[in-house]
Amino acid sequence: MTSPETPETLDVLRRVFGYDAFRDGQREIIEHVSAGGDALVLMPTGGGKSLCYQIPALVRKGTGIVISPLIALMQDQVDALRTLGVQAGFLNSTQDLDERRVVEAQFVAGELDLLYLAPERLRLPATVDLLDRANVSLFAIDEAHCVSQWGHDFRPDYLMLSGLHERWPDVPRIALTATATEATRHEIATRLNLDATAPNTRHFVASFDRPNIQYRIEPKTDAKRQLLRLLQTEHKDDAGIVYCLSRNSVEKHAAFLTENGIEALPYHAGLDAQTRAANQARFLREDGLVIVATIAFGMGIDKPDVRFVAHLDLPKSVEGYYQETGRAGRDGLPSTAWLAYGLQDVVNLRKMIDGGEGDAAFRRRQTQHLDAMLALCETVECRRVHLLNYFGQPGAPCGNCDTCLTPPESWDATVAAQKVLSVIVRLDRERRQKFGAGHIIDILLGKKSAKVIQFDHDSLKPFGVGTELREVEWRAVVRQLLAQGLIAVESNHGTLLQTEASADVLRGQRKVMMRREPDRPTPKAAKAAKDRKPPIDLAPEAAPLFERLRAWRAATAKEQGVPAYVIFHDATLREIATALPSTLTELSQINGVGENKLAKYGEDVLKTLTE
Ligand SMILES: Nc1ncnc2c1ncn2[C@@H]1O[C@H](COP(=O)(O)OP(=O)(O)OP(=O)(O)O)[C@@H](O)[C@H]1O
Ligand SMILES: [Mg+2]
Ligand SMILES: [Zn+2]
Repeated sequence: MTSPETPETLDVLRRVFGYDAFRDGQREIIEHVSAGGDALVLMPTGGGKSLCYQIPALVRKGTGIVISPLIALMQDQVDALRTLGVQAGFLNSTQDLDERRVVEAQFVAGELDLLYLAPERLRLPATVDLLDRANVSLFAIDEAHCVSQWGHDFRPDYLMLSGLHERWPDVPRIALTATATEATRHEIATRLNLDATAPNTRHFVASFDRPNIQYRIEPKTDAKRQLLRLLQTEHKDDAGIVYCLSRNSVEKHAAFLTENGIEALPYHAGLDAQTRAANQARFLREDGLVIVATIAFGMGIDKPDVRFVAHLDLPKSVEGYYQETGRAGRDGLPSTAWLAYGLQDVVNLRKMIDGGEGDAAFRRRQTQHLDAMLALCETVECRRVHLLNYFGQPGAPCGNCDTCLTPPESWDATVAAQKVLSVIVRLDRERRQKFGAGHIIDILLGKKSAKVIQFDHDSLKPFGVGTELREVEWRAVVRQLLAQGLIAVESNHGTLLQTEASADVLRGQRKVMMRREPDRPTPKAAKAAKDRKPPIDLAPEAAPLFERLRAWRAATAKEQGVPAYVIFHDATLREIATALPSTLTELSQINGVGENKLAKYGEDVLKTLTE
């Protein structure tokens, strides 16, 4: 494959990693850093940031140092590189002295292409001394948003990384993150001395679109059942992540799925470290497991075949939602990002913000984050366009989100809004009482249970003025009023209050438009997802072969004690099952089959195909 015209970087991509072509943006970054430039890289989750420092490290003389906070994943990352024939090692607190000595010796002897380092090790003078004694080709600062004090992943040790440049001015640095906002980018650039105006420093901002992810957000009716239906009808035997807000909810839903024949493991900060590590390792290593987790789970997880990410509670920000859903479909195959959200989510989060810690400015920021998340939920436009615009990028209706596939209607809800508001106002004015959403809806529907509330003026009696809508529809109205800031939640009891803006609605000076859910729910979107052609189409006759290859991969992974995807990705196995290579040369043409893997697994794969 190598020809004199092939640039060295492309040659490494093909020979070592077995990929045909660079993804968008990779080539430029890799060439800039290989030539000794500094870079700040913003690329979505699963976008392919690792290659942006791995290839320069292979091309340049010396060892590439990778600073990463994800200690628990270092072993897997190093295993994956070794399977590719790359000389890699790591240094962190999980090793004993002897293990560290071996790696240090290899490093100083120039035997390593890449060395993964936990940031806290740089605090040790011994580490600085070690770096001085070896030949360093570059510093890669992965998960660079950890340097941002306002971000949720702040790591104090990351602040020390600003000193790398002064101490080793000739070593190029590349900082990488999937956090997309402008504000974070500026903070990273400032703290790491990677200003775009600095000599030989460039910022690379990739598109944040993830075309293979289908975004779907639906009203929560019975979360458990909705989740079960999604998994049973669309994601049978698929690996996926289910996010919940509380530990309790994690435990409950993991048990529920398991009872229903779907193997699910819990993951949250309340579990002891050993159980957490064991559950994470199983999720990474085995095929088709579901992990039910709090948001403590997921950063840097390079499991390429996560087919769905389901949220059972509303994320607190669009940034969080984007990061979490981004863990689906890193291999580029069709995947689902599904969120169920309801009135109670909005009430709970508003209460949490009002009753939570932090000063007024902090609460205001949290409120802004929540409002942005609600706007995404209630939009009648394409979800993807909405997301991209939020990150300051353009987009066109995608045809692969729920609003594109089954467009919701937008309807004039002004009268409905006035009815809800007048109940709230009258209860407050006449009875000096405030009530939650359930009670207010009962009054609108004229339910007997609500009649215990006496009104002074019979003529104003609001009982049963809302029989034109069903209960679920009223809940949707209240939810959207909350989302639009036309009613507020009192933090202690979750009772509903009017806001300044609601007066305009009551006076008829403001029109209220709302989203009406199309009568689906899932079937149509689900069908569309199935009908869509995955990037590598799997013909029905190829399916049994694909399964056989997967079984071979599972057995091999177990034998070698590595995650299955370290051997080959699903996408690679699908391509093999379709192309049916009969010789090693033919097999080497498949995406994801590099020299080392060909030598290691080639014969076995061919044998599996002819069995
Ligand atoms: N040019 C390419 N061709 C084919 N596959 C690629 C290419 N570049 C990267 N990949 C694959 O894409 C997947 C995601 O890459 P990577 O782990 O680098 O993501 P990332 O950008 O670091 O994401 P995160 O923010 O989650 O860490 C990997 O499995 C990788 O092998
Ligand atoms: Mg990464
Ligand atoms: Zn769309």
